[in-house]
Amino acid sequence: MGYPFWTHIALWTYLCLVCIIIVCGSEDNLLEELGLDVQHDIRKINISQEEYVRMMKIYLDNMKNETNNIETVPDLVTFKSAKKSWRRTHLFFPIERLPAQTEVDSSELRLLAPAIPNIDLINISIYQILNRRKRRFITEKIVYPSSHQPKWWDFDLTTAASSWLSGEPNLGIELECSGCQHEFHPLEASVNALVLPRNRRRSKRGIERTDCRTNDANRKCCRHKLQVDFKKLKLGEANSIIQPKTYEAGYCRGRCPLNYNYASNHSRIQSIVHRMNKTVPRVCCTGSKLSHLGVLRVDPHDSTKLQVEKWDNMIVLECACS
Ligand SMILES: *[C@@H]1O[C@H](CO)[C@@H](O)[C@H](O)[C@H]1NC(C)=O
Ligand SMILES: *[C@@H]1O[C@H](CO)[C@@H](O)[C@H](O)[C@H]1NC(C)=O
Ligand SMILES: *[C@@H]1O[C@H](CO)[C@@H](O)[C@H](O)[C@H]1NC(C)=O
Ligand SMILES: *[C@@H]1O[C@H](CO)[C@@H](O)[C@H](O)[C@H]1NC(C)=O
Ligand SMILES: *[C@@H]1O[C@H](CO)[C@@H](O)[C@H](O)[C@H]1NC(C)=O
Repeated sequence: MGYPFWTHIALWTYLCLVCIIIVCGSEDNLLEELGLDVQHDIRKINISQEEYVRMMKIYLDNMKNETNNIETVPDLVTFKSAKKSWRRTHLFFPIERLPAQTEVDSSELRLLAPAIPNIDLINISIYQILNRRKRRFITEKIVYPSSHQPKWWDFDLTTAASSWLSGEPNLGIELECSGCQHEFHPLEASVNALVLPRNRRRSKRGIERTDCRTNDANRKCCRHKLQVDFKKLKLGEANSIIQPKTYEAGYCRGRCPLNYNYASNHSRIQSIVHRMNKTVPRVCCTGSKLSHLGVLRVDPHDSTKLQVEKWDNMIVLECACS
């Protein structure tokens, strides 16, 4: 006849507690499970432009294979800087006008820096040139030169690339190095941009069955929006994720009144039992349908290579009472 009813309930309560403990486990465990514990020596990361383009294309192809709306997947465009057009640390990228109505999802400046002897780290600031006297600060970053060999560095150039593609005059960028003994001249430079037809970015996901529709603070269990920015997660300098920079993870929250959106028949039973015996927890709003996230990141075992990974259950698609 199987186990008595209460044994089932006790078992589920136990499983739920185990889940909570796993979810609330220490941050270290979390990073370990994401495979981010392998400590990159970020001073050694040296991804060539060729490797970057090759792996980015694979990453984007994977996304195209998985989506049912191919127009939401960006394209990679690369603008190489001709060395003859450089004036000292002033780089110019001839950006041919892309089809109108294109917007930049993200963009990176990739430089091959010369060997710089006897310096461990330098601080590079990047400015967008607006006119002869004015420039706009874009980003700054600490980078690690090599004493003997050239080395690849990358910088986030999204704001500058966006403004060029939206029609602002493209007068190039200027690099400023604090900590360099001599003026700093890159050996090669290109701008890589992920571009989308305008307005596609915001409509990546259609409205799903359990998405929240109102701003009612008292609302029932539904899927809320949650944009996760890997940079802000403080994964430390070990953050080796190239793409995506941010993604829509979502979260579940809301009331679970009787007979509302049960995940399973078990949830229904638990909810009924809870009314009679408060020791049994009430059902709560949680993810009922999850999906994976494709990630492009530096190979933990080879700092000159990128790899495409599939991280399971990173996105909540639907919520239910369970
Ligand atoms: C309520 O549930 C708990 C946990 O299953 C059980 O130990 C307890 O005996 C139950 N109480 C009643 C009054 O049924
Ligand atoms: C970085 O990679 C390039 C090839 O892309 C290579 O020529 C260079 O020597 C490497 N630099 C270091 C410091 O390993
Ligand atoms: C995408 O799908 C096509 C056909 O289904 C397959 O040949 C190709 O290898 C896939 N590409 C990737 C990157 O998975
Ligand atoms: C890098 O240099 C800029 C300009 O000299 C300075 O404002 C900034 O504080 C420096 N950043 C770091 C982290 O040293
Ligand atoms: C609950 O059980 C009933 C009866 O077996 C079944 O028809 C129904 O589909 C089940 N509901 C869920 C959510 O599994």
